[in-house]
Amino acid sequence: MKIGVFCSGGDAPGMNACVRAVVRRAISEGHEVVGINRGYQGLLDEDFFASESCEPLMSMRSVSGWSRFGGAFLRSSRSIEFCTEAGVKKAASILTRHGIDALLPIGGDGTFHGAVDLAKCWEGRIVGCPGTIDNDLIGTDFTIGFSTAVQTAVEAVDKIRDTAESHERMFLVEVMGRHSGFIAVHTALAAAAECVCIPETKTDIPAIVRDLHELKARGKTSVMMIVAEGDEEGDAVKLNEELQAAGNPFSTRCVILGHLQRGGSPSPEDRILASSVGDFAVQAILTGQTGVMAGLIGGQPTLTRFEDTYAQHKPIPTELSSLIERLAR
Ligand code: F6P
Repeated sequence: MKIGVFCSGGDAPGMNACVRAVVRRAISEGHEVVGINRGYQGLLDEDFFASESCEPLMSMRSVSGWSRFGGAFLRSSRSIEFCTEAGVKKAASILTRHGIDALLPIGGDGTFHGAVDLAKCWEGRIVGCPGTIDNDLIGTDFTIGFSTAVQTAVEAVDKIRDTAESHERMFLVEVMGRHSGFIAVHTALAAAAECVCIPETKTDIPAIVRDLHELKARGKTSVMMIVAEGDEEGDAVKLNEELQAAGNPFSTRCVILGHLQRGGSPSPEDRILASSVGDFAVQAILTGQTGVMAGLIGGQPTLTRFEDTYAQHKPIPTELSSLIERLAR
């Protein structure tokens, strides 16, 4: 069997470890792997990974040492052309022409939407791996890259706390996550932030200002508020303006962490997750599965239909948000 592997959408630390697992498992079972550069766009451009010896197929050696690196050696992209019907049909004919029997996309919901479209006009098998820092996919407890993104955000918030303490300030730190508050909640809890604003719960400005007055009265000299970029009330800068207008007693600054959270060497958790689901996805392809994502739920390898991975908003455990509140004293 010839399996095509690629990374798509926002890159996530651990994608390289996942490709390594795919390549090693597939080759050890006697199959071939084609690395496709730059996601769906690279497929449309017939931009394939070439090993050091310019071989079109990936080898055991071509992924040596990949696990510890962030970014995506196969590169990634968000393809506009693939979002068109003509683009999907073109991709299908390229796959057929190159004799590719199965595809293994590593990405998030956009990538899996693309896989569903492709499956309508291509007969090969498609099994995906959850690669996104957002942790917004149903069918896996965590997505590849989430753990590292949270670790990066926590390290940043710890540093910001130092200067916040010195100047007796409040900081609003904006984290990524698109429409999800997972990165924000985990960062807030791990960094002992006093407050978190996420799209899953209503951001009540007057109530937050009341809490801030209470914190000040109790002797708090610095405050960390973690803001998810997708919060329904607005981004960190907008929230800051609203809080000031409503009588925030603290002097404030805003920090937007942005793409910093997408880089860096993957955490051990991300490397383990990426290796496990990459290996399991190949196994799924070889046993005839298609149209599914390979994830881990409670440590158990699990397959979930692509459509179900993004059909609903992945809920954030409410106990995490209430724990942050309870401990912010
Ligand atoms: O999906 C991953 C993610 O980093 C989101 O958290 C963020 O909203 C988005 O990608 C940013 O995308 P881009 O890198 O295309 O600006």
